[in-house]
Amino acid sequence: ESLTDFAHTLVAWYRVNARKLPWRETTDPYRILVSETMLQQTRVETVIPYYHRFLEAYPDATALADAAEDDVMKLWEGLGYYRRARNLHRAMQVVRDSYGGTIPDDAEAVRALPGVGPYTAGAVMSIAFNRPQAAVDGNVLRVMARYLGIFDPIDLPTTKRTISSAVDRAIHQAEPRLFTQALMELGALVCVPRRPRCDACPVAHGCLGRQSGRAAELPTKTPK
Ligand code: ADE
Repeated sequence: ESLTDFAHTLVAWYRVNARKLPWRETTDPYRILVSETMLQQTRVETVIPYYHRFLEAYPDATALADAAEDDVMKLWEGLGYYRRARNLHRAMQVVRDSYGGTIPDDAEAVRALPGVGPYTAGAVMSIAFNRPQAAVDGNVLRVMARYLGIFDPIDLPTTKRTISSAVDRAIHQAEPRLFTQALMELGALVCVPRRPRCDACPVAHGCLGRQSGRAAELPTKTPK
């Protein structure tokens, strides 16, 4: 069972089963960055109204860059993790001052923005710019640990590297923008933490975790 088949099957499933979410109506890198920043520590249902209010107030990078910090923080109130908002505000000031107000189609430049880690950079590059740049978060680690049947602890850097490199190979096999979101959506709807719904999974036939009968135990952690 190949990663090519995995990628194609997953994307075909996503085309049919994706939830309709506001940030899926756009490929604007600014909007993708706002949504991914909000979604990092916060649930989808909580984020939706904030996403709408925020973009109504600040429709583009320069509008956010020019805003007063207090006003930005006020719109973020209730979302928590306020450092995300401060970093996003500063990041858009860099975009205004160094890139003429347009988020650059450049992985290194995006990664260098305040508050943008490898996950967020990958999400913006793949979802907004359709570049084959993996976005690996906890959900993706879980899906891939199960699919690949990886029982090594997920907190080990070498385990994460194994998974990232598999995602890197897989993302080249499909449209990156769809593949990244398909992987997230599978983790959110089907390959969920406690009781994975393997009967509803489009890639169950190739899943080594499932074949082991222990998918629900994955990923494992280093015992304390
Ligand atoms: N969690 C992180 N990114 C997401 C996205 N783009 N859609 C839904 N949930 C997410």
